[in-house]
Amino acid sequence: MGRLIVVSNRVGQPDQSGGPSVGGLAMALGAALREYNGVWFGWSGRTVETFTGGLSVQRGQGATVATVDLEEQDRQEYYNGYANRTLWPLFHYRIDLSAYERSFNEGYARVNARFAQTLLPLLKPDDFIWVHDYHLIPLGRELRRRGVKNRIGFFLHIPWPARRLFATLPFHRELVEAVFDYDLVGFQSEDSLSAFEDYVEREAGGTVGPNGRFEAFGRSLQAGVFPIGLDTKAFLEGAATEAASAWRDRMRVSLAGRRMIIGVDRLDYSKGLEERFLAYEEYLSHAPEALEQVFLLQIATPSRDEVAAYQEIRARLDAVTGRINGAFATPDWVPIRYVNRSYRRDELAGIYGVAAIGLVTPLRDGMNLVAKEYVAAQPPEDPGVLILSRFAGAAEQMGEALIVNPFSREEVSDAIREGLAMPLKERVRRWEALMAGVRRDDVDAWRDAFVSALRAVPQRELPP
Ligand code: UDP
Ligand code: G6P
Repeated sequence: MGRLIVVSNRVGQPDQSGGPSVGGLAMALGAALREYNGVWFGWSGRTVETFTGGLSVQRGQGATVATVDLEEQDRQEYYNGYANRTLWPLFHYRIDLSAYERSFNEGYARVNARFAQTLLPLLKPDDFIWVHDYHLIPLGRELRRRGVKNRIGFFLHIPWPARRLFATLPFHRELVEAVFDYDLVGFQSEDSLSAFEDYVEREAGGTVGPNGRFEAFGRSLQAGVFPIGLDTKAFLEGAATEAASAWRDRMRVSLAGRRMIIGVDRLDYSKGLEERFLAYEEYLSHAPEALEQVFLLQIATPSRDEVAAYQEIRARLDAVTGRINGAFATPDWVPIRYVNRSYRRDELAGIYGVAAIGLVTPLRDGMNLVAKEYVAAQPPEDPGVLILSRFAGAAEQMGEALIVNPFSREEVSDAIREGLAMPLKERVRRWEALMAGVRRDDVDAWRDAFVSALRAVPQRELPP
């Protein structure tokens, strides 16, 4: 059986649960690769004066990790530029933040070509290649141009935006045409798949047949929904460690009889943190009985801090938390505990475990693994309540959560009130249904579904 070659911008540490990269992708891929004697290829995160394409290779128990250094101009134009200033905001419905600069396009094309060039000598004819996320959409095309006939799959971890938004991107057709160099394309949600379908049919003049067969640009691909899951077993093991239990104890002391609402996110404008704080303020304003009895712990881990929009959202959140705390705090209580650092997943498991509410309200999110982690960390005999944005991919699977519109302060505030008052019996009923899904649709199920679909597509003949 052929090897699995995973390619992503970021690589983590496949032998450890967790590792230093914060974010859903690195977590999931580390777990996914453990099962295969595969290769994980990506950017080292480092820059050098001149690109050489030299590989740094680390052999682990599960997979071999191979990384390449890029140039500073690549970091600016490809990573900070096209990936995180053009595609990320656009794909999260923030065209107001999306920057269209030709130098970004050039950097994106250049780095994708560099990735293909560097990967080429590592490939064997029967390898399966699995490319991940928005940084590397044209990598399939670059590999095909170099004669690669292997089966290549692509998985998008973030949402695919609605057709009319996508059409604001200069060269949008070229980007979608490049998608058609993949054999299999996976999305997190039905919402993303149907947005892609809409584009293919109405903008690209293509057709969508039964069983997810897409045709356009004289080529065809297979597309489907593959919702990513937790490495549930490893997460539960983490939740049973000393570290997790130490955090549970420490948090219980610090609760001092109060009830905790928790949020855990990368500090990103797509996560709806400002709206969340304002909704919580709305709740406090109308619930005098909650003052000094409830608090919100928000862990917001700094992310992509070279990008201005991230510096701006950080400054806004500093201001909003400061204002709300100033207005409501008493000498021995603050309504928002706001923490800008990162925690290991076992530590998080302990902290989630004592929270009465998990508040997950992104304005747009491909999946959102924090929602699943919150559920997995709850004590079965007295579980907390998940409040979940309808605009997270996870909402398609987690209907037993309290589903909210994160743009409505009143709706989120009502959900907080409802969650805090929910009787034990109903909490248990909802949690059991959610937890069954978290166990069943885990990261192994995701990987196996994608890899077996990729193996099932026929190998393509390239024109001579
Ligand atoms: N995370 C972490 N430490 C932190 C904050 C977050 O390990 O301090 C992890 C979190 O447990 C989750 C991931 O980062 O597994 C975030 O994934 P999610 O899908 O929620 O959002 P993304 O960051 O990928 O947009
Ligand atoms: C999201 C993206 C990933 C990315 C992660 C962390 O999960 O889908 O591709 O790796 O955020 O972002 P960063 O820019 O730090 O890699």
